[in-house]
Amino acid sequence: MIELKDVYKVFPPRGGVGDPVVAVDGVSLSVGAGETLCLIGTSGCGKTTTMKMINRLIEPTRGAITVGGEDVAAQDVIRLRRRLGYVIQKGGLFPHMTIARNVGLLCEEEGWDAERTRARVDELLNLVNLPPEEFRARYPRDVSGGQRQRVGVARALALDPDYVLMDEPFGALDPITRSQLHDEFADLKTKVKKTIVIVTHDMEEAFKLGDKVALMNAGRVVQVGVEQDFRERPASAFVSEFLSSHLGP
Ligand SMILES: Nc1ncnc2c1ncn2[C@@H]1O[C@H](COP(=O)(O)OP(=O)(O)O)[C@@H](O)[C@H]1O
Ligand SMILES: [Mg+2]
Repeated sequence: MIELKDVYKVFPPRGGVGDPVVAVDGVSLSVGAGETLCLIGTSGCGKTTTMKMINRLIEPTRGAITVGGEDVAAQDVIRLRRRLGYVIQKGGLFPHMTIARNVGLLCEEEGWDAERTRARVDELLNLVNLPPEEFRARYPRDVSGGQRQRVGVARALALDPDYVLMDEPFGALDPITRSQLHDEFADLKTKVKKTIVIVTHDMEEAFKLGDKVALMNAGRVVQVGVEQDFRERPASAFVSEFLSSHLGP
């Protein structure tokens, strides 16, 4: 499981002028084994910073984070990132590399031979519904936005990590593709047992994909629960307002 205990992140002011930015302000969260947590909130509330502290792309100012019971601060970063797949905001594919190379990048880095990497890439492309014979040799610019997102997910799963972090994985897609990817995600979750954290700014998506949802505001977690908790027992006026402006009645 993943646990955050009273985690803070203070950035120096941008450009060195003004007050420091408290991006994450005392966040405690836990994600059980096999569970999916959706982290939601408006832009700038600290979602990406919170997520990046889990795989140490950002070091916390204060607080403790454990993954599988081990303090991440004490772990080798390379080993840690092997255990934590990461789907980057906007896909983050390398434009000059084929889909196959993008997906197999981590396998290559691990020193797998070409045959083993190729077999794994095909397996992953099949898993995310991109027939390998059709997609292997294409470049990111030659596939649709939804297909690029699938490639990003396939790449994150390459080394079969126990944990997957996804930053707005379905962010910039049209509603139909989005809803299709949501269904595929649900299907994928039954095939691969992972502990997952998904960042989103879409409440409907959060309720659909998350076993539980954590709503953030200004660096703090203001409520954690399932849809019913949010609808029937909103923790504050902010939560009710967020819900009514992000969901129908
Ligand atoms: N490297 C940085 N330096 C200074 N401020 C930052 C940095 N990264 C993020 N911030 C600030 O921290 C806050 C939270 O950012 P972020 O975690 O990216 O929010 P979200 O993902 O919820 O949109 C914002 O005010 C943002 O401007
Ligand atoms: Mg973000």
